[in-house]
Amino acid sequence: MQSISHDVLVIGAGLAGQRAAIEAKAWGCDVGIVSKVHPVRSHSVAAAGGINAAIGKGDDWKAHFKDTVYGSDFLGDQDAIEILCKDAPARVREMESWGVVFSRTEKGDIAQRPFGGQTTPRTCYAADRTGHMLLHTLYDQLMKSNPAIYPEHYALSLILEQNTCKGVIMYDIEHGKLIEARAKSVLLATGGYGQAFSTTTNAKINTGDGLSLAFNAGLPLQDMEMVQFHPSGMYGKGYLVSEASRGEGAYLLNAKLQRFMKNYAPAKMELASRDVVARAITTEMLEGRGAGTKKDHVWLDVRHLGKKKIMERIPEIFQTVQHQLGIDCTKELIPIVPTAHYSMGGIPTDTNARVVIDAHRTPIHGLFAAGEVACVSVHGANRLGGNSLLETLVFGRIAGQEMAKHAKALPRTFPSIDSIHLEQAQKRLMHLQNRTTGTRPALVREQLQSMMMRDCGIFRNAQGLENGLRAWKRIQAKASQLMLEDKSAYFNTDLVEALETQNLIAFSQTILASAAARKESRGSHMRTDYIKRDDKQWLKHTLARKGPAQVLLDYKPVVIKNYKPEARHY
Ligand code: FUM
Repeated sequence: MQSISHDVLVIGAGLAGQRAAIEAKAWGCDVGIVSKVHPVRSHSVAAAGGINAAIGKGDDWKAHFKDTVYGSDFLGDQDAIEILCKDAPARVREMESWGVVFSRTEKGDIAQRPFGGQTTPRTCYAADRTGHMLLHTLYDQLMKSNPAIYPEHYALSLILEQNTCKGVIMYDIEHGKLIEARAKSVLLATGGYGQAFSTTTNAKINTGDGLSLAFNAGLPLQDMEMVQFHPSGMYGKGYLVSEASRGEGAYLLNAKLQRFMKNYAPAKMELASRDVVARAITTEMLEGRGAGTKKDHVWLDVRHLGKKKIMERIPEIFQTVQHQLGIDCTKELIPIVPTAHYSMGGIPTDTNARVVIDAHRTPIHGLFAAGEVACVSVHGANRLGGNSLLETLVFGRIAGQEMAKHAKALPRTFPSIDSIHLEQAQKRLMHLQNRTTGTRPALVREQLQSMMMRDCGIFRNAQGLENGLRAWKRIQAKASQLMLEDKSAYFNTDLVEALETQNLIAFSQTILASAAARKESRGSHMRTDYIKRDDKQWLKHTLARKGPAQVLLDYKPVVIKNYKPEARHY
């Protein structure tokens, strides 16, 4: 059995992972990066509309801070939000200096567009391909710093002993073998989990693997009930139709071609925060004002922007709707529906990206998390568009520094690890590979996705969530009996899909259980049976961990500094 070791091991090669690796290398560490895909196929590449930073005239980090706290419906931790907003200009300038081709104003400054929930246009962009530009530019820097990269390697389990992370057991997909990867500092930067829902902007690879690595190791997941539905997913597909369109002035229209947002957010209209807009669209459809024979979508209208602006600012939208729907959006309306997009919850960390397990911020030594898989809680109950790319760079960099400090303070040699970790991973693989009966992974995955969409979607209630939890148990029983058709030893994607499906099922229970317990409505978590926000009972973070029979819930306080909760209006 192969064994490798690095000072710093980064799991996931999107923006957060790459930025952390570059930083740890700059601190003189030996760094390894593990990714189930090639780094530039990471989902950060799909982020479209932009990255927020208060670099415009008249703007400052304090305004960004206030908008973000307000957008989070006061569940965001204000110490973390302060770090995010203060560091934003430096991170954007750094990416500019590394070669990101940001769109420009006439004067040559980085152009900024308005995004939902902002009081001033603050989103820097590269047309509507911002994530693509950032990821490829960062990859250039990563290549310069020359870490060891393990592409198409899949992390199966965390090696945790006595509150310390000592590495991971990983599976080399190409060669079909297990590898023990030891490290002094391990970063989980595995991204989001949109594939838990049937309609999503997320790539097939977004199966929340890091969440299940942590959850299966007994660590808590924080605020998992907070699932962001992006207002504009392409009808019938779920693919992202970027908020950049509304930032550039697109309208949302119902079947009667009315700009219905005036009834929900008269001051901000289409640029209210995402939770508000997604609920407004869903309400229009539920109340019979949706478009089409099934009244199951609304329209996004960009026609009045004109072809020149469309091709310059949102060319990706033009191309995708043309390819996918055969629609020329310079002349026709785009059918859209809300779509699962982002996880505000995740693995709890402190502001140094260290994984923590309770209200006292007790750390797991050597374990860090950053990016969408983490919950440092800069987004609280609702993320503002443009803040996720920012979070990856700000907290990716911090994670790189902290991992380097941690690794350098330890002895040069790597401690031995218990053989049980490898044995358990072998058992898990053999169980899947040897079964000759059972259910196909894709079928079980579809059952989970439909249930999550139906019972734990934009509008939730006790009945739906209880049904969801019951259905989850049936789905989970099938997940332990998955059957592979492909038994081959090399590059077995059937096996990887089965592992991903098991991961999707494992953490999904925390979304259902946390949502069932939170008896209030806040941000993206809308309960039709508890329609008000309840700060007295629920101004707190949920911590959900694996129990013998069901998820165990605990809570921890929100960090409030400058802004006390107040009612939110857009
Ligand atoms: O709509 C978008 O371009 C998405 C941006 C984001 O999620 O930050």
